[in-house]
Amino acid sequence: MTTMKNIPLILMGCGGVGQQLLQHIVSCRSFHAKMGVHLRVVGICDSKSMVVSSDVLTRELNDNLISQVCRVKSNRSSLSTLTAFGECQVFMDSELRGKFLDIASLLSKVTGLAFVDCSASSETVGVLAQVVDLGCCIVLANKKPLTSTMEDYDKLVSHPRRIRHESTVGAGLPVIASLNRMILSGDPVHRIVGSLSGTLGYVMSEVEDGKPLSQVVKAAKSLGYTEPDPRDDLSGMDVARKALILARLLGRRINMGSIKIESLYPEEMGPNAMSVKDFLSTGLPLLDKDIGERVRKASLYGNVLRYVCMIEGSRVEVGIQELPKDSPLGRLRGSDNVLEIYSRCYGEQPLVIQGAGAGNDTTAAGVLADILDIQDLFP
Ligand SMILES: NC(=O)c1ccc[n+]([C@@H]2O[C@H](COP(=O)([O-])OP(=O)(O)OC[C@H]3O[C@@H](n4cnc5c(N)ncnc54)[C@H](OP(=O)(O)O)[C@@H]3O)[C@@H](O)[C@H]2O)c1
Repeated sequence: MTTMKNIPLILMGCGGVGQQLLQHIVSCRSFHAKMGVHLRVVGICDSKSMVVSSDVLTRELNDNLISQVCRVKSNRSSLSTLTAFGECQVFMDSELRGKFLDIASLLSKVTGLAFVDCSASSETVGVLAQVVDLGCCIVLANKKPLTSTMEDYDKLVSHPRRIRHESTVGAGLPVIASLNRMILSGDPVHRIVGSLSGTLGYVMSEVEDGKPLSQVVKAAKSLGYTEPDPRDDLSGMDVARKALILARLLGRRINMGSIKIESLYPEEMGPNAMSVKDFLSTGLPLLDKDIGERVRKASLYGNVLRYVCMIEGSRVEVGIQELPKDSPLGRLRGSDNVLEIYSRCYGEQPLVIQGAGAGNDTTAAGVLADILDIQDLFP
């Protein structure tokens, strides 16, 4: 009889992606069992509390409790209501950091432990750096820890085999894995151009058809493609974070401040200056003419506008670029992500990665694959 490999894990963040990950873990139980792997969820936390199995060495949060966690979090309730569901303890706010470190130092010596960051917080970086130091593995969908200072970044990646973060760029698409394989094979990557925001990909392909930016953004918002405040997408910050992660992966020792970021709205229309409602009704329409003009000029040369991240030499930029209509990025329609990678092996014709670059399901699937990818580090 083959012995089952156990991977104990703590999930940080139980929003859309975290809940979907838990559901994937439960629904893949028998499939993983056939592979000889069991994912042992020992703790789950949100921004204020953590539910932990009563004995992290021998017990886990069972699938019934995991389903209750998903139900409680989808109702936006507190994890503290879960003590009624079997053998678990709940820790609150001030106790959390100490508890993480206790569990990490205990399990890292015996069974190993994976910390899975599906939060959207910049505050997790301290704990992640400490648990890496203690010998734990980390798996991230959260971009913020990897876009913190260079010092924090160096700590997180100090044991490359113990970190996976595929879902930080392009959700479940194999972007990080592909780049890592190229780096390992000594194939120098000269240039990356990518449309890495589903929202901005949709917006730019719609304005290409002559629709006003203001109408397109409103339509994108009503389709659920944008953040509640569409300026979070239009600022380009999320794309800039992805660009920084890719640039650092390629060895560039840079910070966010070195990235040239083009925002699609001026500062005087920012969140401090006007409400979302005013931005949509009076701010945005003022931007229609300029974008329309840029689209028209580009089309005179057979080009289209795309909001891309561009990494070439020491240059890292995010913003609107004119690109040939007949290129993988030029042909992009809708909300897919597309990445063109140019290297020695992919010189004339780039390696192209394309597909859904957002969504809880695909993002959580990317996180799950990352967890399975580190299974060899567990006894
Ligand atoms: N959704 C996508 O398509 C997608 C794609 C690629 C990457 N991502 C990344 O995946 C992450 C999760 O996205 P999401 O859509 O699931 O976000 P979300 O729905 O906003 O959920 C975030 C979760 O993190 C928790 N949280 C906040 N601060 C925390 C902290 N300090 N420690 C632990 N947990 C904390 C929140 O707790 P409360 O419940 O208490 O608020 C919430 O449960 C984000 O970093 C996002 O950028 C998402």
